[in-house]
Amino acid sequence: MISPPASQGAAASMLLLASNENPLGMPESARRAVAACLGDAGCYPDANGTALKQALAERLGLGADWLTLGSGSSEILELAAQVCVEPGQKIVYSEYGFIVYGQAAAHARAQAVVVPARDFGHDLGAMRAAIDGATRLVFIANPNNPTGTLLAPADLLAFIEAVPAGVAVLLDEAYTEYLAPAQRYDSMAWVRRFPHLIVARTFSKAYGLAGLRIGYGAAQPALTARLNARRPRFNVSTPAQAAARAALADADWLARSYDVNTAGRSQLEAGFRSLGLHCVPSHGNFVLVRVGDAPAVHAALLARGIEVSRVDPYGLPQWLRVSVGLPEHNSQLLDALGQALAAAG
Ligand SMILES: Cc1ncc(COP(=O)(O)O)c(C=O)c1O
Repeated sequence: MISPPASQGAAASMLLLASNENPLGMPESARRAVAACLGDAGCYPDANGTALKQALAERLGLGADWLTLGSGSSEILELAAQVCVEPGQKIVYSEYGFIVYGQAAAHARAQAVVVPARDFGHDLGAMRAAIDGATRLVFIANPNNPTGTLLAPADLLAFIEAVPAGVAVLLDEAYTEYLAPAQRYDSMAWVRRFPHLIVARTFSKAYGLAGLRIGYGAAQPALTARLNARRPRFNVSTPAQAAARAALADADWLARSYDVNTAGRSQLEAGFRSLGLHCVPSHGNFVLVRVGDAPAVHAALLARGIEVSRVDPYGLPQWLRVSVGLPEHNSQLLDALGQALAAAG
């Protein structure tokens, strides 16, 4: 994604490969839907998101009363912590888990229990062992950000089955649309089966609507009623609801997003290998790559007009996370990275 950075004014433009956005931008169908609803922007949005929930319910095979809309799926993660956990109780998640899990735990004044990762991914056995009588919530991302690792559905299902009653599981599927057909699994069947499961998804990634802030949670009606009761009433704007409906119906867009991502991710992974760099095989729209002195390489890329993400806050000071761009963006990044590494010796 190309954008003028606030600090440099509109004349300079940066290549932004830092936030796992869709390099195609926003679907034209959603753009039209937003334009068509702007005349209603003097009124509050539909607080129940009726039309969007209906469309989602049909797509997912659930009732509308199984759905909570959020200002991004980040809000669903926050709501889960608010609703499931009392101050002082515990939330379990993996090392290298998405940064918002720690924030949600802090906002709920919960105790965060961070379980060491295995091969950069979730160690489900250790996570199960970390659950005790004070645990009320477990966060799991599949695929995980920032590592891009993927859990096998059978392992995930066995974990959900093994979690004691009274402990909610939030399965964060922000990147699920990027999974190859053979890797996909039916988490909505699990939602129908398990009263303690919440699946969170977003329109920010494959659907290309990150700036509009819209995501959703799917859970059984009793838990959904509690999530909705805690949700700010008008948390999702009218344009966000309209855009999400349009994007959801836009199968061509989703297919294109998937294709661009799959090809771009292979391009990055092959490029990193040819630069002699190790990367974690990714199932998302980003790749975690080990560059050595990551702050220096990050600065060198910035100086060449490219922003990628530092992951030292995750405890990965030698690594950078690079979002998949369009083919020419990926080439630009790989060229700049080669130059930056050569300059660093
Ligand atoms: C694993 C994961 N979950 C959730 C989100 C939240 O995205 P949003 O709040 O834009 O829906 C992200 C965003 O980067 C993510 O990486």
